[in-house]
Formats: sequence, structure tokens, C-alpha cells
Amino acid sequence: MDQSLATDLNKAAFGPDFHWGVSTAAFQIEGAAETDGKGLSVWDVFASRKNKIKNGHRPGDACNFYHQYADDIGLMAELNIPNFRFSLSWSRLLPAGVGAVNPKGIDYYNRVIDTLLEKGITPWVTLYHWDLPHALEQRGGWTHRDIVSWFSEYTALCAQHYGDRVKHFMVMNEPSVFTGAGYFLGVHAPGRRGLSNYLKAIHHSTLATATGANILRAALPKAQIGTTFSCTHLEPYTHSPSHIRATQRVDTLLNRTFIEPLLGLGYPIADFSVLKKIEKYIQPDDYDKMAFDFDFIGIQCYTREIVKASLWTPYIGASIVKASQRKVPHTLMNWEVYPEAIYEMIKKFSAYPQIKKLIVTENGAAFPDVWQSGAVNDVKRTEYLQGYLKEVLRAKREGHKTDGYFVWTLTDNFEWAEGFHPRFGLVHVDFETQQRTVKNSGLWYRDFLK
Ligand code: BGC
Repeated sequence: MDQSLATDLNKAAFGPDFHWGVSTAAFQIEGAAETDGKGLSVWDVFASRKNKIKNGHRPGDACNFYHQYADDIGLMAELNIPNFRFSLSWSRLLPAGVGAVNPKGIDYYNRVIDTLLEKGITPWVTLYHWDLPHALEQRGGWTHRDIVSWFSEYTALCAQHYGDRVKHFMVMNEPSVFTGAGYFLGVHAPGRRGLSNYLKAIHHSTLATATGANILRAALPKAQIGTTFSCTHLEPYTHSPSHIRATQRVDTLLNRTFIEPLLGLGYPIADFSVLKKIEKYIQPDDYDKMAFDFDFIGIQCYTREIVKASLWTPYIGASIVKASQRKVPHTLMNWEVYPEAIYEMIKKFSAYPQIKKLIVTENGAAFPDVWQSGAVNDVKRTEYLQGYLKEVLRAKREGHKTDGYFVWTLTDNFEWAEGFHPRFGLVHVDFETQQRTVKNSGLWYRDFLK
């Protein structure tokens, strides 16, 4: 590590226009699954099934953000957090996904947005963070091409109600994860499996992202419109050609397949032949409909993975050598702590000339939190954030597009199929009492942002 980077790690070093914040998602924090007219989402249904969530956890009230939003926003203000990235629950606004609007849902996000603005915090809204209305899943969900028009209706509604105050929108959160885990592997909601479900979901989510972005741009010409992707720095297990080729396939699928069509480059079929099968779902004028000139792109990077060729893994022919097997420092998610990963990913995405601004819209870590004399002394999380931020600064100093950084996440919350065990928050939540305690990492971020 360049010594000057270590000593320069202060907010000013990133420049006055850099966007700082925290990120979260409706389903992970709100609770109130059936309150005030909300319809069920695929996650409400999936999480109620047996053996889908680790340790038998149920999302229940999550962090009760639905009722405690004002206090949590007050806490954010105390922590000097200037930007809050959160998602809207589609089924709270449109309980059946389309058709009848739920006025209480509309009003809820009006109150959240107004409270943020009163506290001087800028709302950054994600339209879709994985909680599809269950009623739409029953009609085929992301495998059904009509989802593009269902999503359009939802997007137009959000623009109509919130566009007067919200100036930063992200259309989608990590399509690679909700399609891969939810429609190919079946380990996330809605729990579907198989290549054809997966490929249809990929294509329809790509079309919906561009279509949604166009709707936002037409309705709100002054808004900043972005979308977010997960990305992982990949390295081959050894320099053998088979591991190198396997790494390229995984890179194509995870880091390129979702963004490239949206940038007007089409699906990277030439570098991963299985993707050729997606062509049967593509209609002639889809190529034009798939691209959009985004104001910013969000990338979400947590780790590096080491890839091995594997004859036994269908389609991709590759497997991951987990961090615990490699005996390297890792988080509770078994993700290696590897700060250079974020530098590599900024560099990689910044190289696309079509990307105007690049913001790290998520980065953070889950560790076993230790209470010491009434405080959560989460040294590892603070070190993780500092280590990754130094690499963000390095990328910025080298001239790569680097325009913001959002910590995942404000409060400990419901970590999808992992349940409540992995805690990512800057703020500890006692899920029995809903008591909040700012962790030492939160105090560090507060002072950093001062
Ligand atoms: C997702 C979040 C998730 C976080 C940590 C991202 O993939 O957008 O919802 O909680 O990573 O796993």
C-alpha cells in the first residue's frame, strides 16, 4: 500500500463532488409485510417455506423500518450521512403488481422521502431490489415477457409520485443475483431452477431495465438515472489454460452479461457459448430497446474469488475455491477480505467509454460483532471499510471514474437466505427489542464524514 494513501484517507481527498452514503433495501429492513394494504412479495412467500432460510429464521419485522423510519433517518443525520440509498417495495405500492394502487403505500414513501429531505439527506431510490409482487410471479414472474410492461407501469407510478423530490434513481439492483440465485439455482425467491428460466429472466430484466430507464428519463428529464450491478474480481486458481478459460467464462457471466447489452454492446455470447441459447428469447427490435444512456452506473463489490475449471459443474464448467478453503481472512459470508478487488473492479468498469459516472453503490462486511463494555467494538468492519476505501481512492487518483461510495448497510438486517446471522450494519439491531446501538464502525464513519 502506498503510504500516502493510508495517511490521506479523509473525506476531502475524494473531492467535493464525491457522493457518500449508505445503502439498503425494502425487504431487508421494513417488516410490515401485510400492513396497510401491502401485497405479498416473492420473498414473503419464499421465506415462509421450510428450509429456505438458514437457521429457520423468518423476516418478521426485520428492522421495523416501516414504523421506525423517522428515528433511523434521525440517526443517519447524527452520523453525518448525506445520501440514503433505499428501495421501494413494488407490492406495497401495487399489491397485485399492476392495477389497483395502494394509497397507504404511496403515502408511506412520501413520508420517508419528506423526512429525509427535512434532515438534509438526499434520497437515492432503487426501484427493484428483488421483491417481486407474488401475484406477478404466479403469472410467470421474470420468465414472462409481459413483465416488461408490468415493470413499466410500476416505474411510471414511482416517477409520478416521487419524481418531484427524488433526483437519483436506480432502476435495478444486481440482476445477476436475482436471476442466478432466484431463477437458476433456486436458492433465492422465487426458488425456480433451470437454464431456460434463467435465460428468460436475464433477457426480460435487461429489457425492463432499459425500458424503465426510458420511462424515468421521459417523465423526469432532470433526474440522474442509474442502475446497479454486482461484480467480483476473479483470478484463476493457477496459470493453467483450463483455469484461465474457466475464469473468463465466469467473468463473462457475472461481470459482463448484465451490463453490456445495456451499454449497447449486446450479450457477450462470443465469450461464453451457453449464452447463445438466449437468442431464442430475443425479438428483432430488442437490441435497440436494450440499450440506455445512463447518467451513472452503480457497482457493488465485496470480494475476490478464485476460479477453478470443473468438469462437473454444468454449463459454466467452473467452480469457486472458497476463502475458508484457501485459509485467507474472510467475512461471515465466506467472502475473502481483499481490498484490491474494489480497485480492480472500478478500473474494469471505468474502461467502458459508455459509462459516464461510476459509483460504488454497495460495499461492506459481516463479522461476528463483539460487545465490550456496552459498545460494539467491530474493529474488523472498520478496518475492512478503511482498506477498501483506500483502494477506491487509489482508483480515483489514477483517473478511473470514481464518483461515490455507499456502505452496505446502515442497520443490521435480514440477509436473504442467510437470515439474520450475518450482520452488515454500522448500527447494531437487537431484533427482539428493535433497539439500535451505533457500532464503533458507525462512529468511525460519522467522524470520517464530518
Ligand atoms: C445485495 C444486498 C445484500 C448484500 C450483502 C448485495 O448483493 O444487494 O441486498 O444484502 O449484497 O450480501
